[in-house]
Amino acid sequence: ATSTGSAVTSLGFHSVDKTLADVVTVPAGYTARVIYALGDPLDANTPEYQNDGSDTSFETRAGDHHDGMDYFGLSAAGTRDDQSSARALLAMNHEAITDHFLHVNGATARPRPAAESDKEIAAHGVSIVEVHRGALGAGRFRTRQSSRFNRRITPHTPARLSGPAAGSALTKTLYSPTGTHCRGTVNNCGTGRTPWGTLMTGEENWAGYFTRGAGDDTARADKSVAALVRYGRAAGGASRHGWETSGTDDKYRRFDISRTGASADGSDDYRNELNTFGYLVEIDPYDPKSMPVKRTAMGRFAHESAAFSLLTPGLPLAVYMGDDSRNEYFYKYVSNAVWDAADAQAANRLAAGAKYLDSGRLYVAKFNADGTGTWIELSLSNPLIANYAGYAFADQADVVVNARLAADAVGATKMDRPEWSATHPVTGEVYFTLTNNSNRKVTPTSSSHSQVDAANPRSYSDSYAGGAAGSPGNVNGHILRLREDALNPGAQSFAWDVYVFGAQADADPSLINLSNLTAERDFSSPDGLWFSQATGICWIQTDDGAYTDTSNCMMLAAVPGRVGDGSVKTLNHGSVVVNTPVGKAPTHAKLRRFLVGPKDCEITGCCETPDGRALFVNIQHPGESISASAIGTPGAYVSHWPGNAGYGNGGALARPRSATIVITKKDGGLIGT
Ligand code: FEO
Ligand code: CA
Ligand code: CA
Ligand code: CA
Repeated sequence: ATSTGSAVTSLGFHSVDKTLADVVTVPAGYTARVIYALGDPLDANTPEYQNDGSDTSFETRAGDHHDGMDYFGLSAAGTRDDQSSARALLAMNHEAITDHFLHVNGATARPRPAAESDKEIAAHGVSIVEVHRGALGAGRFRTRQSSRFNRRITPHTPARLSGPAAGSALTKTLYSPTGTHCRGTVNNCGTGRTPWGTLMTGEENWAGYFTRGAGDDTARADKSVAALVRYGRAAGGASRHGWETSGTDDKYRRFDISRTGASADGSDDYRNELNTFGYLVEIDPYDPKSMPVKRTAMGRFAHESAAFSLLTPGLPLAVYMGDDSRNEYFYKYVSNAVWDAADAQAANRLAAGAKYLDSGRLYVAKFNADGTGTWIELSLSNPLIANYAGYAFADQADVVVNARLAADAVGATKMDRPEWSATHPVTGEVYFTLTNNSNRKVTPTSSSHSQVDAANPRSYSDSYAGGAAGSPGNVNGHILRLREDALNPGAQSFAWDVYVFGAQADADPSLINLSNLTAERDFSSPDGLWFSQATGICWIQTDDGAYTDTSNCMMLAAVPGRVGDGSVKTLNHGSVVVNTPVGKAPTHAKLRRFLVGPKDCEITGCCETPDGRALFVNIQHPGESISASAIGTPGAYVSHWPGNAGYGNGGALARPRSATIVITKKDGGLIGT
């Protein structure tokens, strides 16, 4: 992530129109091809994917719901080579599943058959797959099915805890009585690439995979109840897929974290299982035998991506992190160690990870109305945390494990669902998406609401006229950016502005479409966010959004300027002042729609070859709107992609599949220019 020193100043393609077509649409002059879809075999012993619900062995297949993804170059000899644009490992998240498509007749109601749970669990996690430009196929990228690097990491894969929570009372489990190890990773959403060549994968909506009984609050009778409720796991709530109903085997039972007390030897004690999820997990893709490491110093919440600051020898490095839930916070982690450029090529990559990511300070952001902001350290040395009435923190392990409670204690700014963050490769400014927030209100009427503020200034319909409560809040989302004071990753304060507000082009420009977006660039609900190192282009990806009746989800390219280069706008719900490019609306050369995905998908995850001439993008859950009763009914599937694009089985009953595409320019040029 060292500055490349230059970036393109304009975009070189014609914007694609919004569309509801069940295809991937890219600009004229570009090609998008599918290379890696749900179920693709990762070794020579695994049969080709039938895609009819009969397939098993997801431990050696591509998982479902492709999400964040990074590129790790390989030399011809099969060693790490950051400059290689011909051969690489793609490491990517498989966030979730469209369960009905994994089974012949759709998913069975609870109790879940063990064979179905086994498939569903294994379809989650992370995959590492080798890609290369084959000698055949005119140098097109393809996966290498027999690569020794190919690997799946699932919710069962042994992992290690590091940092303050490792070995703490909070992480001691039946699986690891010493609290040093744990099992697997789940709901992996955004990613980040470390400067030393490893993957960071964010565990996002992990809490929902677990359940605890209605009587568990009484059975526990300790502060863990408050922590569980704060993280969305109230007693009595059902788990997402009911895996705990598949039998008494530990591999299912662990998803019910109730404290039953029925077993004298503690063999039913899964109370702390949830404290081993919610981290950024570091994985060394170059070492297939390496154990994933959960970096607890970076806090426990609904992690999206991990954006590393630019690197300056002698300064610490920072990692910027969003917590994606309504009214949650934006965080940064600052290493105690200062950057040593030699570590970029460390032979022991996970040791470099330990050096920078296990010992440091965790901060949460507070955004002031004057365009400044402060980083508040989450530490017991802060009296607001040490004396917090809402939760009694025991030690720093407790602070990082319950970072949300610590951030509550210090009065951080509640945000409109922070998703991905990304660092501009030239300016070092940090961008992050706020996807939307239905609970943002001018006049809160419930404890789940938060009030509009400078950094989260829109509430779609009750904000501007003091109108009715119960309105949709900020339905379109926006993108914020910040510049650390003195460009020091360890700074305690920063300047910020709003880069762009999402909105449909025909929305009121004084109330909703504050960035004057026109039809070539209007969007809603930004989520994925990633900067090309080769071109400096900012790639913006959307998830659902407020007008999916008008268009499938999309990806836009931006050339975004710098903090403070917009105009100041005063909104009419009080004295909120926002720096926004509204006065210099993103012009045609600076923001354009580049891609629209197939029906019912999300666009997420982006990486490139170092030469900038191939861009990899993930298409997540096309056609996910499906019920069990619709399985096998011609015409019932919302999407047939990528079968309808010639990848795998086609036809009227082709089940849609999450997949990775590779985008190239027909003239071989830089993507987006
Ligand atoms: Fe998995 Fe917040 O997106
Ligand atoms: Ca996301
Ligand atoms: Ca999202
Ligand atoms: Ca999604």
